[in-house]
Amino acid sequence: MEKRQELYAGKAKSVFRTDDPDKMVLVFRDDTSAFDGKKIEQLDRKGMVNNKFNAFIMTKLQEAGIPTHFEKLLSDTECLVKCLDMMPVECVVRNVAAGSLCRRLGVEEGTTLTPPTFELFLKNDELGDPMINESHVESFGWAKADDLAKAKELTYKVNHVLKELFAQGGMILVDYKLEFGLFKGEVVLGDEFSPDGCRLWDAETKEKLDKDRFRQGLGNVIESYEDIGRRIGIDFDA
Ligand code: TMP
Ligand code: ASP
Repeated sequence: MEKRQELYAGKAKSVFRTDDPDKMVLVFRDDTSAFDGKKIEQLDRKGMVNNKFNAFIMTKLQEAGIPTHFEKLLSDTECLVKCLDMMPVECVVRNVAAGSLCRRLGVEEGTTLTPPTFELFLKNDELGDPMINESHVESFGWAKADDLAKAKELTYKVNHVLKELFAQGGMILVDYKLEFGLFKGEVVLGDEFSPDGCRLWDAETKEKLDKDRFRQGLGNVIESYEDIGRRIGIDFDA
């Protein structure tokens, strides 16, 4: 496999073409962004930590029967993935109220949500990732109704697998965001799963361990990401 020209640079990852038209290389950078790119900082070791974290989680999800774009780790900060035709939509499941849900609905942070909520957001920084519903996705052609239904089903399946995994490490999976795309007609999980795109609290103390540490200026961001990883069995020195 040969890494070729850069296709796209996002806020935290860059994507490169390869000599195989069906595969691309994701490069996890140290850049850390919040508030739709209004706060950006470089955090030492973040690229390596999130790359290894994502590889571990994607492998667990694949083992649980959830199709993902992840193929293999290539280096500390790079992995090989399948090229997906991405839906420009973010699928968010919440087990506990936090973040924008609390602001939007005036709900107290920490309220348990039974059953978990499912929300959709349009991926568009200029518009601030507005919340949308299933009919918008269909009417604007962002995805076909049955592909969106599959993405929703897989998003809930991920909840089942990861709630249990993090619980075993003494953590609560508060919420998370997933992105899906199509590979040869099949709905496949793309992008990444890392502490950048979910909320995790210590089950006892309710301490925030995820990117809210960066958003809220709580400090020790990467140390906390590594702590999350170690609690679920990730060896960042491997
Ligand atoms: P929110 O509370 O800001 O709506 O976010 C819900 C979850 O989704 C939280 O874990 C952060 C994640 N998320 C992203 O990773 N990127 C995004 O652009 C958005 C809107 C949410
Ligand atoms: N990932 C998004 C951004 O960079 C939203 C966030 O995490 O706050 O701005």
